[in-house]
Amino acid sequence: VNGIQIAIDGPASAGKSTVAKLVAAKYGYVYLDTGAMYRAITWVALQQNVQLDDESAVMAVVDQTPINFAAGSPDQLVFAGDQDVTKAIRSEDVTNNVSTVAALPQVRAALTAQMQKIAAAGGIVMDGRDIGTTVLPHAQVKIFLVASVKERAQRRYLENQSKGIEVSLETLEDEIQARDYKDSHRETSPLVQAKDAQRLDTTSLSVKQVVEQISKTIDQYL
Ligand code: C5P
Repeated sequence: VNGIQIAIDGPASAGKSTVAKLVAAKYGYVYLDTGAMYRAITWVALQQNVQLDDESAVMAVVDQTPINFAAGSPDQLVFAGDQDVTKAIRSEDVTNNVSTVAALPQVRAALTAQMQKIAAAGGIVMDGRDIGTTVLPHAQVKIFLVASVKERAQRRYLENQSKGIEVSLETLEDEIQARDYKDSHRETSPLVQAKDAQRLDTTSLSVKQVVEQISKTIDQYL
């Protein structure tokens, strides 16, 4: 196997995907957005009016729905079956319901197995909540990205504006806190910093500075 495993975890909107994509491009590694997988299942379940805390019903969705990624610009394309759900999985509806689906242990087990299969191919950067603790516990590089709630809400606000989505800063702060609470308090693989992860507070760092910091750690392994 060529290349190392890089796990980037942290709370909602801490900048994980932005940084993970840049790191992957820099080293020529595969980037896997694991949150997109939970989001894709949530989107299909919502479409089918499946009750989101009904584990066997959501598992039926998982079993029927292959999730695939394809190259795209500026973002990777995400497919649920043959549907392009790239945009749909970023909707407020999916964002505010995904933690319910992600709390289901069988769903986590199934998606974790898919993630591990993708990682087996070689150099990979994965971002999520439990990559360093559960999905890739032997990853050579583990980063735990954090930032203040205010800063994270502000970043999401600007991102929303560029997409024409209108949600107040206050609402975004509440939503981010609610999602972090759910993700941190579930039984199975909660959001927690791995013991051997490097904690990086990005509140007052630029994207470039964060990528440089992480690159320093990666370069020690190459
Ligand atoms: O990273 P993103 O915000 O897209 O993740 C969406 C949701 O998916 C998270 O709030 C969490 O509930 C779930 N998730 C997870 N484990 C991961 C990645 C995401 O539980 N590894």
